Amino acid sequence: MTHDTAIHRLETLLGDRLVTSAADRKQHAQSESYHKAPLPDAVAYPENTQEVSDILRICHEEDCPVVAFGAASSLEGQHLTAQGGISLDMNRMNRVLEVNAEDLNVVVQPGLTRVALNEELRATGLFFPLDPGADASIGGMTATRASGTTAVRYGTMRDNVLALEAVMADGTVIRTGTRARKSSTGYDLTHLLVGSEGTLAIITEITLKLHGQPEAISTATCNFDSIDDAVNCVILTIQSGLPMARIELVDEMMARGFNLHSNAGLPEKPHLFVEFHGSPAAVAEQAELFQDIAEEFGAGGLVKAERAEDRSKLWALRHGALFATKALMPGKSTMSTDVCVPISRLAEAVSDAQSRAKEMGLPCTIVAHAGDGNYHCALGFDADNAEDVAQTKSFVAQLNHTALKLGGTVSGEHGIGLGKQAYMQAEHGSALTVMRTLKTALDPKGILNPGKLLPSN
Ligand code: LAC
Ligand code: ZN
Repeated sequence: MTHDTAIHRLETLLGDRLVTSAADRKQHAQSESYHKAPLPDAVAYPENTQEVSDILRICHEEDCPVVAFGAASSLEGQHLTAQGGISLDMNRMNRVLEVNAEDLNVVVQPGLTRVALNEELRATGLFFPLDPGADASIGGMTATRASGTTAVRYGTMRDNVLALEAVMADGTVIRTGTRARKSSTGYDLTHLLVGSEGTLAIITEITLKLHGQPEAISTATCNFDSIDDAVNCVILTIQSGLPMARIELVDEMMARGFNLHSNAGLPEKPHLFVEFHGSPAAVAEQAELFQDIAEEFGAGGLVKAERAEDRSKLWALRHGALFATKALMPGKSTMSTDVCVPISRLAEAVSDAQSRAKEMGLPCTIVAHAGDGNYHCALGFDADNAEDVAQTKSFVAQLNHTALKLGGTVSGEHGIGLGKQAYMQAEHGSALTVMRTLKTALDPKGILNPGKLLPSN
């Protein structure tokens, strides 16, 4: 076994909470994405910050990689042990530590999932709105700077994390930020760690902003004759300053996928799924203003879902996009990817992706957190067919280059992980050197999630 000394010392520390069974190691190498990685050498189950600190001190002394593991729902392999070592399973650190209702914030441990958090908050009249689809852990969402369908209204993890407790590579425990809404003291380490994908520190406590549960919620879908009409409707809606809670684009292939997978009965046309949050009067007014804009772009088939169960059904459909894509492409492998462009360039970006997939003869679904200019393409390809594989790679490369060319980024929400390193230089230029300097300063032995985020050369 590799890293025997580290594992032996961790066993002494954790007892039967240091596991080396094949089953546990395999479970921690699972991924919902196409990324594969070696099994961890062992899985550690810390129960508090002191244990995380002790684990890191030992792993630092023994040069043993450590990779935090939460809900394993990341899509670029952030939780995988690319170079073996310890999978640090944070799921036992899953408590709400403090609800500060008057200050609209909550302090949680990283293994808590967003759905569990909202269950705990239900009686307070407050909620944590970010919804990336999966029941992700708050620690994972913080580490990947996650967002999802409601970011257009409530922002991403960048906007919703106030403060952190984190353990540095050598085991030092630090606190960044405070419970105050703002601060102008020193380097913003909170936001350095948000999105650092476990490469700079292990997050052990998160202070999150909360929002009031909306008094009224109204959801609707409508369809368009062309993707351009749908996207241009989104652009004008956002430019008009309508405070959309969600505005999601579903292309015609995805609508077909929803019909096949979930009997959704949608016309196979581009759709928008939208949601409004506010007082009943505000929601009614927003819905009306949105309808006026949508009609300018020829929207039809407006269906409202006002009952909670109808709304959940609609969003369950949307959150099942990847499974519905698989249903649409039986026997094929799927490659799902995420890029983000300035909203004014979204129509050309999405049309470009659609026509490129058509030219290549590859089936492709597109869904977009359109109000953020963030879109996902999922391509179906035959993994045993070299030409299909080459075309898929070329499609993804083009997609990333188009996003950069249009002033965007190669990931709006899924992050870099194993999948997007090849584009870091193109996106960041000399800033990548600064990132490397930070990494070397904070993790000189390179034990924190090695092989991720920063390209090796
Ligand atoms: C979504 C996830 C995959 O938007 O980002 O469905
Ligand atoms: Zn998404």
